[in-house]
Amino acid sequence: MKLAGRMQRIGIETAFEVLVRARALEAQGRSIIHLEIGEPDFETPAHIREAAKKAIDGGWTHYGPTQGYPELREAIAQHISSTRSIDVKPQNVCVVPGGKPIIYFPILALIEEGDEVIYPNPGFPIYESMIAHAGGTPVPIPLVEDRGFAFDLDVFRSKLSDRTKMVILNSPQNPTGGVISEEDIRAIADLVRDRDLTVLSDEIYSRIYYDTPPFSIASLPGMLEKTIILDGFSKIYAMTGWRMGYGVMPEWLVDPVNKLMVNSNSCTASFTQRAGIAALNGPQDDCEAMVAEFRRRRDQFIAGLNTLPGFRCPMPQGAFYAFPNISGTGIPSRQLADALLQEAGVAALSGTAFGAYGEGYLRFSYANSLDNLMLAVDKIGGWLRDRGQP
Ligand SMILES: Cc1ncc(COP(=O)(O)O)c(C=O)c1O
Repeated sequence: MKLAGRMQRIGIETAFEVLVRARALEAQGRSIIHLEIGEPDFETPAHIREAAKKAIDGGWTHYGPTQGYPELREAIAQHISSTRSIDVKPQNVCVVPGGKPIIYFPILALIEEGDEVIYPNPGFPIYESMIAHAGGTPVPIPLVEDRGFAFDLDVFRSKLSDRTKMVILNSPQNPTGGVISEEDIRAIADLVRDRDLTVLSDEIYSRIYYDTPPFSIASLPGMLEKTIILDGFSKIYAMTGWRMGYGVMPEWLVDPVNKLMVNSNSCTASFTQRAGIAALNGPQDDCEAMVAEFRRRRDQFIAGLNTLPGFRCPMPQGAFYAFPNISGTGIPSRQLADALLQEAGVAALSGTAFGAYGEGYLRFSYANSLDNLMLAVDKIGGWLRDRGQP
């Protein structure tokens, strides 16, 4: 049976593929340190789990409204309004199963054949995949290591055209851990404000930062009506498996997103939404403790990576990823990632899993214990020495 042509233009997320390969090695008795997958290694906070159990027993087990329960949308609207200094209402919020549908639905709703979409490269692989799947033209902008993995603004300006229908920003960023400075966000807003395009601002790591809080483009004059904020519960509440995220968007986009939602999912699970209310309205100390632990690991792991021959790792400012430049090893990224998995027992991702401009880099998730992270550094160091690296 021949697949539809659009299936030729859809990508995958390599992290899941590497996880399968790492598990297959473990099944053969090998010991692997998992630094490939982007999810917190913490339990979902107890009060959130309790709220979900209570919701199941309380009968929150049926279909709910497509857009999400009003109480949850109210809590999200308040959270986004106060953290971004903007005024959004529950009717601007669409609750969906994870952050990903807020990439999928707006791109399907807005992008047609010939439309150009600007996005970061290296970047979350689903951007490029979905732009191409929808028939749009992906316009990657390389991230510049020396600028903290932000865009070169001259390159950005030169890539804007009358066909640019969407600009995707992601800060704090996967895979680099970069945070776009307020100054750069302001410059980007000035370049797009008067254009007929939408900004998809992926802010899923908005609360995982180590120095300056990330700045949302939606808070700048004239931007709220053309910006979709993607955020969710997966990362900050360690709820990746619950599948719950949301988009905050101008009202004109809510109805199309609801239509795509009703055609694909009907609604997000009811009891998880009750847990979402408990997450946003309850104590936040578990989240703060998790970010503090990520910081502790970051500091030591990055210092460790920087002792490795041929590695140079800038200090990530957000998320929980290290993105060392490994060009000094002389080994191509994919080859190095494969060898580290097979021969050193460390699962990491090639920078190229995040786009062509990721060549010369590896991505490590430091959502693992400090002991394992330092053991990974030792194992990689041993492997490099065995190969004759100084
Ligand atoms: C940048 C970015 N956006 C969106 C997502 C999707 O998150 P979710 O698991 O909630 O769908 C991820 C998950 O890894 C991500 O890294």
